[in-house]
Amino acid sequence: MRRERQLEILDRIVGHRVGGNTTDMYPDMYFSPTDAYKSPERYQEELDRIFRRTPLLVCLSGDVAEPGDFVTLDMMGVPLLVARGEDGKVRAFRNTCQHRGACVAQGRGKGKRAFSCPYHAWSYRLDGSLIRPTHLDGFRGLDIDEVGLPAVPCDEAAGLVFVSFAGREQPEFDARAWLGGSLVDDFESFGYENYQLITTRSTTRDVNWKIMFDSFCEMYHVQFLHAKTIAHLFRSDCSTFDDLGLHGLMTGVRATIDELKAQPREEWELMRHAALNYHIAPNTVLIHMIDHVEMYRILPEGPTRCRAELSLYAPELPTTERAERHWARQAETLINTIETEDMAMADQAQFAVDAGNPPVFRFGRNEPALIHHHEVVEALLAGEEERFAARDPKPVRISAGR
Ligand code: FES
Ligand SMILES: [Fe+2]
Repeated sequence: MRRERQLEILDRIVGHRVGGNTTDMYPDMYFSPTDAYKSPERYQEELDRIFRRTPLLVCLSGDVAEPGDFVTLDMMGVPLLVARGEDGKVRAFRNTCQHRGACVAQGRGKGKRAFSCPYHAWSYRLDGSLIRPTHLDGFRGLDIDEVGLPAVPCDEAAGLVFVSFAGREQPEFDARAWLGGSLVDDFESFGYENYQLITTRSTTRDVNWKIMFDSFCEMYHVQFLHAKTIAHLFRSDCSTFDDLGLHGLMTGVRATIDELKAQPREEWELMRHAALNYHIAPNTVLIHMIDHVEMYRILPEGPTRCRAELSLYAPELPTTERAERHWARQAETLINTIETEDMAMADQAQFAVDAGNPPVFRFGRNEPALIHHHEVVEALLAGEEERFAARDPKPVRISAGR
């Protein structure tokens, strides 16, 4: 992140800390009708107008750093294979053999020259084209050029890889344009093409995807819900929010922040005191911290069901036993906290919604990222995303209250 941008955020944070414990706030409260968290019609509209129209973050460039590196995953009910080709380009395909439908690759891996289907060993190049069927005679007359792995639109920008399920309506998209200049600037400075996956956890819950996503949209709860786990690490009563169009940046403040009051401004370093929570529409939160990145992707699987993909990345893989133990502990704390605390609240909220009360969720002005995300969802549903075109950071109105 550019130095001026870091200082601009720090000025706002320090302003809050010396100004009597204030925080960035939205102009107004927001009321979110809870029917939207269970209605099958609404769910279908969200799939059609959001998830099958917008690019979706699929992995970091570091997951597929070199030619032949690949990852597989199911998204939007489609088995996907993402691989970097010999030409350095990342491509996505349906992970579906064109003989009789088996997955041609499993899990993730490095340095593949080709994908060989486990069922009858048809093999495919990294660009998805079929090399040849086995038992050629049995398939005489088959047009080999016609039966490659079906491509899924895919684009890479600033160390992030996106796919799109828009189908024929939008065979190509521009990931840079989708992110916008401010996010491209920030992500390019982080070097995600070199990040390494430490661990990943996939969890399916009987919860609407928005309820799950909302767990990552405010710092307000940290001091209460996480009182016994991670609260001591953060100042839960202060955060900043930058409106980046469809996306947003919520900067969480670490407990060490008040050290800055005694330090000259030239020496301030944002990353020592902050966690950058990037909200990438529609369903991803990337938390960039000084020594690692957490990625949370929430994938809808039904009106009241979603899958949360939690991934922890670091700039390099641990090389010593001590470093390995450190990351294992870090991952365990993170996943435990989220599963036993945040997700437990999400379960309760969904139970309440299913039982018909409250009629609305009430989002406070002190939860600006939460309100912004819901405004974006509504705008995408209404086809009014131009209102949220990627723009330079716009701080939300700063209020003096708490
Ligand atoms: S299903 Fe892949 S080779 Fe038969
Ligand atoms: Fe939390």
